[in-house]
Amino acid sequence: MRSDVEYSPVGEGLGMRDFWLYAWMRRAAVIAAHVTGVSLTIIIAVLSRPGTSLFSWHPLCMALAYCLCMTEGILIFSPELSLFCFKSRKWKVRLHWFCQTLALIVAATGLGFIVASKNLSESRHLATWHSRLGICTLAASALQAACGVCVIYPKLLCLSTPPPRLKLYHGTCGLVVYLLATLTIMAAMLSDWYQAMVKGPVWWAIFLLPVFPALVVMNQITNGYLPRKKISS
Ligand code: HEM
Repeated sequence: MRSDVEYSPVGEGLGMRDFWLYAWMRRAAVIAAHVTGVSLTIIIAVLSRPGTSLFSWHPLCMALAYCLCMTEGILIFSPELSLFCFKSRKWKVRLHWFCQTLALIVAATGLGFIVASKNLSESRHLATWHSRLGICTLAASALQAACGVCVIYPKLLCLSTPPPRLKLYHGTCGLVVYLLATLTIMAAMLSDWYQAMVKGPVWWAIFLLPVFPALVVMNQITNGYLPRKKISS
């Protein structure tokens, strides 16, 4: 018996494919997510003035890892559009791999800088919400990467092909990692260091900036993985 529930991008079963305004709005949202991720990286890079202290490399590395590499590594699968406009799934998977590996390496470097900086100033570790959320984000990112390696090399789990459930877990856990990273970056903007530099309406504008790519990523992942009831016309 044929199941009438299948995994399909939202709107397909509703005849939304022909609805050009809807398609253009989704495309515009994805472009805006790319622009927001890049802008946030530039803003944090300028504010942290890399090279002025050991600490200054931490915000830069973390913004490069999460706002740039991780965001682009996920948006590459966006059906609407991706920065590199790759059509082939094989190349998208390769680029995803590359971006996420780079994100992990740069994030680990950023962690090294903040730990070294705190040791030097003899400050207490993991004393703020940002630092605790940050450790959870880094741990979840490492687990997520291990799950991704098993999807590509199922032989590590003594399987010939990756079970669909594993792909589903990889996608949905990816969403959790991205949301954790978003919360960590927003919590960083509550730090004394950041609040001493950015104030007033500009603070609010930058504070809300990470929410936008998070919403686009959430929409992309839930549309890609959640089962939808097919409505036949
Ligand atoms: C998702 C990205 C980020 C992660 C995973 C992360 C992780 C961490 C961790 C684990 C610590 C504490 C280290 C320790 O206690 O030894 C920390 C500290 C810190 N981070 Fe981040 N960070 C991220 C992004 C940022 C950004 C973008 C900024 C600046 C805008 C920033 C500013 C700070 C500051 C000021 C501290 C020292 C004060 C504190 O411990 O809260 N971080 N970060």
